[in-house]
Amino acid sequence: MKNEMDLSFTAKIENESFARTCVASFLTPLNPCIDDVVEIKTIIGEAVSNAIIHGYNNDGVSKVLLSVMIENQQTIKMIVQDFGKGIKNIEEAKKPMFTSKKELEHAGMGLTIIEALSDRLEIISTLDLGTKLIMVKSLQQYDETKHD
Ligand SMILES: Nc1ncnc2c1ncn2[C@@H]1O[C@H](COP(=O)(O)OP(=O)(O)O)[C@@H](O)[C@H]1O
Ligand SMILES: [Mg+2]
Repeated sequence: MKNEMDLSFTAKIENESFARTCVASFLTPLNPCIDDVVEIKTIIGEAVSNAIIHGYNNDGVSKVLLSVMIENQQTIKMIVQDFGKGIKNIEEAKKPMFTSKKELEHAGMGLTIIEALSDRLEIISTLDLGTKLIMVKSLQQYDETKHD
């Protein structure tokens, strides 16, 4: 079963929870285990909050794009994209505890967490053009009895 969803929403932090819930809801027909749901919601939350906070500086008007593709019953591809500030140094940004917003008490662990919970993370970013995160995750198990 291939299936795909696209979502676009404004850069307001309350939309982080909306995005997480949408993705979890989209994946429900696959009957994922709780651990996978929690991990995928965490990945989406970190990627979306980065787009809103760092990409757009919480401007409340620019759009974040989110796509989720079910590539087969077990492989999920997630893309979170903004057209904001961009990342100056991707390698540095990926380091644990690196944050450019220390004054706001950011932990600098978002990208590290995304990388740990995903099977694959690709970051494409250009200064002043924006950032695209492509994340692939395989679900732990697939219960055939729950599907046609
Ligand atoms: N979408 C983005 N646009 C611009 N900069 C980003 C984006 N995502 C991450 N960054 C940069 O990478 C750094 C590390 O991100 P992250 O690991 O999530 O830590 P934190 O969000 O706590 O700062 C951010 O502080 C920011 O400088
Ligand atoms: Mg973050």
